[in-house]
Amino acid sequence: MINKNLPIPIYYQLAESIQKQIDNGELKPGASLPSEREYAEKYNISRMTARQALNQLVNNGYLYRVQGKGTFVAEKKMEKPLIGITSFTEDMMARGLKPSSELLHFEIIPAPTQIAKPLQINEYAPVYEITRIRLADAVPMAIETNYISANLVKGLTEKIVNHSIYAYMEEQLELTIEQATQTIESSIAEPVEAEHLQIHSGAPVMRIERIAFLQDGTPAEYVKSTYRADRYKFMVHMQRNQ
Ligand code: GLP
Repeated sequence: MINKNLPIPIYYQLAESIQKQIDNGELKPGASLPSEREYAEKYNISRMTARQALNQLVNNGYLYRVQGKGTFVAEKKMEKPLIGITSFTEDMMARGLKPSSELLHFEIIPAPTQIAKPLQINEYAPVYEITRIRLADAVPMAIETNYISANLVKGLTEKIVNHSIYAYMEEQLELTIEQATQTIESSIAEPVEAEHLQIHSGAPVMRIERIAFLQDGTPAEYVKSTYRADRYKFMVHMQRNQ
């Protein structure tokens, strides 16, 4: 599996072969990996080289370390296409996972400027401020805070937001979301977020902001989300000269 005569660095060959074992299911999520020492002995390489290989896979999100316990295979990241607007509920169901939410906050507040502006409403107009932990098969994936004009989306309740905001808007109010603009930034988890997401404080996360618009161009929601970077990657198909 490792060929010292190849002009390919040994750590790279080792990382590749471990990655292959993960991809083909030989090493399953949660499986414990041999130690650096064991790899070093098995392939007659230095521990430094073995460490370099494991580090690369940790940095790429294939493996994770638990202090004092060792190195383990990470869960596969969900690949989320950036084309098409799906709700969290739809997205998880399409993957065969059970979506659920844990409601952290539900309140109608007078919109401060930074919320009124993206929603194109008057300052201090009433908006729902809703914060939910979003879970897939009971595993926390993201924390989302939605700001929604209370004059536009009437009758939201805790029960509704525990299910699906988009489903309520579209099925009950016939408000169809047609477009959205979204930004994605890398960041690290604050201590409280880390606790909710069951990751370490300072672990990588992605901060996403979305403004979604109805067919007539009215902003329907302004959303700030924090997604686990160890569980998510975003995918977009691109075309040159378009
Ligand atoms: C995704 C989007 C959010 C949107 C949410 C609605 O998570 N990033 O902007 O508010 O879906 O989800 P649901 O309809 O499940 O409440």
